[in-house]
Amino acid sequence: MSIAVVTGSAGLIGAEASRHFAELGLEVVGIDNDLRSHFFGEEASTRWQQKNLEESLGERYRHVEIDIRDQSAVEKLFQELGAEIQLVVHTAAQPSHDWAARDPHTDFGVNAVGTLNLLEATRQSAPEAVFIFTSTNKVYGDTPNQLPLVETETRWEIEPSHSYAAGIREDMSIDQTTHS
Ligand SMILES: NC(=O)c1ccc[n+]([C@@H]2O[C@H](COP(=O)([O-])OP(=O)(O)OC[C@H]3O[C@@H](n4cnc5c(N)ncnc54)[C@H](O)[C@@H]3O)[C@@H](O)[C@H]2O)c1
Repeated sequence: MSIAVVTGSAGLIGAEASRHFAELGLEVVGIDNDLRSHFFGEEASTRWQQKNLEESLGERYRHVEIDIRDQSAVEKLFQELGAEIQLVVHTAAQPSHDWAARDPHTDFGVNAVGTLNLLEATRQSAPEAVFIFTSTNKVYGDTPNQLPLVETETRWEIEPSHSYAAGIREDMSIDQTTHS
């Protein structure tokens, strides 16, 4: 069985990634401890999405309740799954800049140390796996504001003839970012 480990699997991006890779035939192991409810209060809890994934994906989704800051728990899980891990999608995060300023130690623990724990566990247990890190759109600073946008019925899209219409490539500049 090929396994995709998705961290932050009940979050906005993690849940979509979990569904996407389960539909492609991978067994998804989702890591999420609902730290979002600690960051932003009970109403921001992502438990509903965890239930949703468990109900809709059945055996293709296994939820693991660990904190990515817990190095030994992360390593233990990765050792158990081993080389069957083909993919790691790392989206577990404290995503708010304002919140980061309020409690920088917790923010650094989740976003920096947690990421290091996952990178190292992957290197030790599944060195051939692809590792996707979602980073942040803030690395682009104000550059996204220069893209030509067209208003459609439910959303804004990049103008179809623009070279980024199908998605923003890695060559978009991150120079002179002034977003935060
Ligand atoms: N939403 C966007 O448009 C967007 C765009 C670019 C990049 N990103 C990045 O993608 C990542 C995820 O964003 P999102 O919008 O899906 O966030 P989200 O808050 O919806 O999801 C994050 C999930 O991670 C879980 N989590 C947090 N800390 C954890 C921990 N220590 N252990 C286990 N689980 C933990 C939370 O409970 C939550 O369910 C962030 O790094 C964000 O900066 C988001």
